[in-house]
Amino acid sequence: MKPLFTPDNHPLILAPMADLTHAGFRLLIDHYGGCDLFYSEMIDARLYRQGGPLEKYYDSVEPGSDKVIFQLIGADREDMTASALKLARLNPAGIDINMGCSAPHIIKVKAGCALMRDRTKAAELVKSLRDALPPEIAVSAKLRLGEREDGEALISFASSLEQAGADFLVLHPKTRKEKAARIPRKEYIGLLQRELNIPVVANGHINSPAEYKLCREKQQPGGTMIGRQATRQPWFFALLKDQAPHQIDLEECWDRFYELLQLHQPPEFHKTRARRFSLYFSENLRFGYHLHASKIANAKSAEEMDQYYREYFAQHREEQNVIT
Ligand SMILES: Cc1cc2nc3c(=O)[nH]c(=O)nc-3n(C[C@H](O)[C@H](O)[C@H](O)COP(=O)(O)O)c2cc1C
Repeated sequence: MKPLFTPDNHPLILAPMADLTHAGFRLLIDHYGGCDLFYSEMIDARLYRQGGPLEKYYDSVEPGSDKVIFQLIGADREDMTASALKLARLNPAGIDINMGCSAPHIIKVKAGCALMRDRTKAAELVKSLRDALPPEIAVSAKLRLGEREDGEALISFASSLEQAGADFLVLHPKTRKEKAARIPRKEYIGLLQRELNIPVVANGHINSPAEYKLCREKQQPGGTMIGRQATRQPWFFALLKDQAPHQIDLEECWDRFYELLQLHQPPEFHKTRARRFSLYFSENLRFGYHLHASKIANAKSAEEMDQYYREYFAQHREEQNVIT
């Protein structure tokens, strides 16, 4: 397997996003040229270890096992290691530990960003996964700044993970309590990258080719991770690589998303996944806010959402194509 990070290779990475980065969505991104690595949605280590009828929808390897990184969430070493070993049978490119999620129910069980409060425990988790997995499967962690803005504490925490065997880290530079709209403090990405000997991946509010270029130039990260902008524009990675087609047919993009959702997700997931995608995708449309807030958000099924999109494009033919 070729190394994920080399001096000449700055990987572009799809961020893990619950309800969004399922196999169907990853295939949509791949259709528009794709990226180098695709994170899965976060997978609950305890539930995955126990197994269940829906588990194949979380651990599918589309668009290719060598490009997929599964993200685990949990705090129990045995659950995390057993789940990592179970996922390793699928030969993914890597397994990541979620140390950034700030949802109250996750913090309550001391997982996600709560792991950043306990350096020893976080490092033990990394070491346990690194010792258990074959070397060709990367072990990483996705971090925030932690409880508060403190560069020294961040460096010390991240260095412990490096010493424990992490192959790379992702930094979304916001504190635990800062909301999605808060602009991240990108200077911490550069700071961490200068201090560590492993790659640090930049993440957060990289929404245009200009912002991508600026972040690469100023912070010199080992790679770049994109979340919401790749949902608004599934062709965003192609734009960053200067390979996007001149024109995108938005109706065709919605149709393809809807078809892939049905092919790769079980019916009980269709509504939540379609609604979450629409929240961002609708921003491409002039009356998208109205479409999403008054129709899609209240629709009773994904079929109904599809019908609303069809009606919208039938009424607004002039919006079907966007120039990239
Ligand atoms: C809908 C949604 C779901 C998310 N789920 C996860 C997740 O499962 N694991 C994780 O580490 N981060 C998750 N995140 C955070 C993203 O991975 C990313 O750090 C954040 O959106 C900032 O990047 P962006 O500005 O490029 O979107 C989620 C974000 C969104 C918007």
